[in-house]
Amino acid sequence: MKIKVNWYGKEYPQDWEFFAECEEGKNIDISGKNGSESKKTAPSPKELVLQGMASCTAIDVISTLKKMRQVVESFTVECSAAQTEIHPKIFKESTLTYKLTGKNLEIEKVIHCIFLSFTKYCGVHAILEKSGCNIKPQIFINDKLIDLWDPQNKTQIKLQEWYENFGKNCSKGVALVIGTSRGIGKELVFKLEKEGYAVLPAGRTSFNFENENIFDSLFLDITKPYTTDYVKNLLIKTKIKISLLVQNAGISSTDLVQDDVNALQLTMHELRHVYDTNVFGIIESTNNLISVLEASAKVILVSSTMALRERDSFLTSVYRMTKRTINQYVRQAAMQITHEQRDVSIFALHPGSVKTDLNPSGKISVEESTTQIMEILADNFALNLKNNNGEFWIYDTEAKTWKIKF
Ligand SMILES: NC(=O)c1ccc[n+]([C@@H]2O[C@H](COP(=O)([O-])OP(=O)(O)OC[C@H]3O[C@@H](n4cnc5c(N)ncnc54)[C@H](OP(=O)(O)O)[C@@H]3O)[C@@H](O)[C@H]2O)c1
Repeated sequence: MKIKVNWYGKEYPQDWEFFAECEEGKNIDISGKNGSESKKTAPSPKELVLQGMASCTAIDVISTLKKMRQVVESFTVECSAAQTEIHPKIFKESTLTYKLTGKNLEIEKVIHCIFLSFTKYCGVHAILEKSGCNIKPQIFINDKLIDLWDPQNKTQIKLQEWYENFGKNCSKGVALVIGTSRGIGKELVFKLEKEGYAVLPAGRTSFNFENENIFDSLFLDITKPYTTDYVKNLLIKTKIKISLLVQNAGISSTDLVQDDVNALQLTMHELRHVYDTNVFGIIESTNNLISVLEASAKVILVSSTMALRERDSFLTSVYRMTKRTINQYVRQAAMQITHEQRDVSIFALHPGSVKTDLNPSGKISVEESTTQIMEILADNFALNLKNNNGEFWIYDTEAKTWKIKF
């Protein structure tokens, strides 16, 4: 891709008018605003960025709708955005509003097309998201505001019914577990249910647990803050409070480089990718969900002994760095909880060296690991957790015992 920007101006330096050419040669005017008095005659560079995002997603949506044989009469995408205060000012929040009309539009299909563009295909959206912009969707179909995640309020109604019929009768309250499609998270859902928790599994990939005390997987991708908002709002609307939050989601390296990414070869793209999930995603979603926790809730952040000096190695450097950051976040959060005289317990936890997709050479099974995690959550352990708020609990695979270490 290659473009060229040419200056139109005659009165240097007042004149902020340009025209831009793309490879095909078509021109588009671009105009800056030189002081409050000056008049802008064309989009500014930043407006072009927003126009780029709106048109990129519009192309995705309209082309997918066509494939789904939906007849659209009118379609607009509006985009608003707020910027940071300090130069260089970047977009920190944005709302993309999709407005469609059509006589026989099938809501579920329209939602599906927008969902795919929003979460997966729109490249300009992904670029802005990677710069830290929190982009929220808003959808109107035939002038009616529709919820992207729960268009007919079906999930909300189902969740309310599940809570009334099963959830609220579970002695240990409601556990929200994030990252439950496989590995430790998936097995932990079953174990928590057996121990008396009503379980809300959440993640970017769903798994059907087929158990009445376990709700259907909720869509939550920790790298996308609006998906945590969606889960939080569902809990607020249904008045469900969480007694146990397990942050289990994690990745070991990037999708681009399969195995180890070592410190001196690390590109910033790789570094950001792993931090997006293991650090920013975990911290953002934990902070966002604090308001739906019960007063004496427990919060577990699944960490790793790879964050410890005694396990030092130059290999898998980003993973180690991220888990170390998480351990420190847990300490900081616990200190704040104590300072605010709150009753929440928060701790980091190493589940052992567990054979999973993330660690194919793990020494123990998910069964053993999750059985041990249940031990630490047992009532007779509760005081230990409370008295050790902010600590790092380690399951020692060799010694078959729990220890605390920072
Ligand atoms: N296995 C070990 O020996 C070991 C040791 C120490 C710590 N841990 C930690 O234990 C946790 C679970 O690991 P595992 O071994 O069970 O790994 P795993 O089998 O690879 O499972 C990872 C889980 O995290 C989910 N996930 C990844 N990115 C996500 C995102 N952006 N949003 C929501 N969910 C996301 C995955 O969902 P998808 O299916 O959608 O990818 C999957 O369900 C991780 O935090 C890991 O660092 C593991």
